[in-house]
Amino acid sequence: MVPEVLEYLNPEPGGTWIDGTSGYGGHCFEIACRIGDEGRLIGLDVDPDAIDFCRKRLDRFPCRTEFVQAGYEDLGSVLAEKGIDRVDGILLDLGISSAQVDRGGRGFSFRLEGPLDMRMDPERSPDAAEWLAQADLKEIRTALLKYGEEKRAHAIAKAIVREREMAAIDTTARLADIVLTCFPDRNRAGKVHPATRTFQALRIVVNNELERLETFLSFFPERLKTKGRAVVLSYHSLEDRLVKNAFRNWTGKMDPVLSKLPIRGEIEGPIKILTRQVVRPSEDECSTNPRARSAKLRAVERTEKPL
Ligand SMILES: C[S@@+](CC[C@H](N)C(=O)[O-])C[C@H]1O[C@@H](n2cnc3c(N)ncnc32)[C@H](O)[C@@H]1O
Repeated sequence: MVPEVLEYLNPEPGGTWIDGTSGYGGHCFEIACRIGDEGRLIGLDVDPDAIDFCRKRLDRFPCRTEFVQAGYEDLGSVLAEKGIDRVDGILLDLGISSAQVDRGGRGFSFRLEGPLDMRMDPERSPDAAEWLAQADLKEIRTALLKYGEEKRAHAIAKAIVREREMAAIDTTARLADIVLTCFPDRNRAGKVHPATRTFQALRIVVNNELERLETFLSFFPERLKTKGRAVVLSYHSLEDRLVKNAFRNWTGKMDPVLSKLPIRGEIEGPIKILTRQVVRPSEDECSTNPRARSAKLRAVERTEKPL
């Protein structure tokens, strides 16, 4: 969704721009092309491989580019260290990159044999195998229900607890096989692999994804200049719900007292929503890049109203 991201983020020459999930630099590259030699682009990612890659990919741009291995939820302290108060735009492109999924050694994909790792930051622990080894049945079931919206959460959690008594569940293939045993044959032929939701849930737990997103959403307007913009691309309903609700709360229109007053239309919060409807990728993009199919973009702009 590069054109849509650029439309809503509106990177212009000069100013300071944040890519909070720089990944392999696709969006960074496009932003850097637009902000000229006076511009400053700061990319964050928890994955050290992504940071190394971006440093090399973007080192020849005339603008100032800096890449920091840090979570976007720590944006406040990253900016404070650089003596920056507020910025012109923040982009988050949530989830994992193709480079992470497509490397079996990272353990994100049930389609590729590899260690059951799933950490975006390989220095954090536990990894997915360690988490599965120590969690109790209730924790596993809750994670599958909450983060995977998996209807067979109970059966899968029971199978995991039973199987780990025989041998550690420490490869992607072994976990995928265990999940498959919980689905009757007729459910195995569908479009979505039965292990999809279990792998998604585990990845979210291991990387604390929703808590980190909530932390960011609780403070980000403080870091935007007036007319500064934030754009978030999310890939599943749990993330999108958090983003949608936080954006609405920040508009001020959700205030239980103010929203009942007749002046409702005039209430202005510290942000205004730019995307009244969620923005989805074009059909063209979905056909050339099927992974974009689930993407949802929401964008806001900081108003003059103090926080
Ligand atoms: C979908 S990819 C971003 C792709 C990127 N926009 C590009 O053009 O290449 C998501 C990236 O976010 C990173 N990530 C996930 N959670 C993060 C967090 N809390 N803080 C910073 N980066 C995070 C992942 O490591 C991954 O590289």
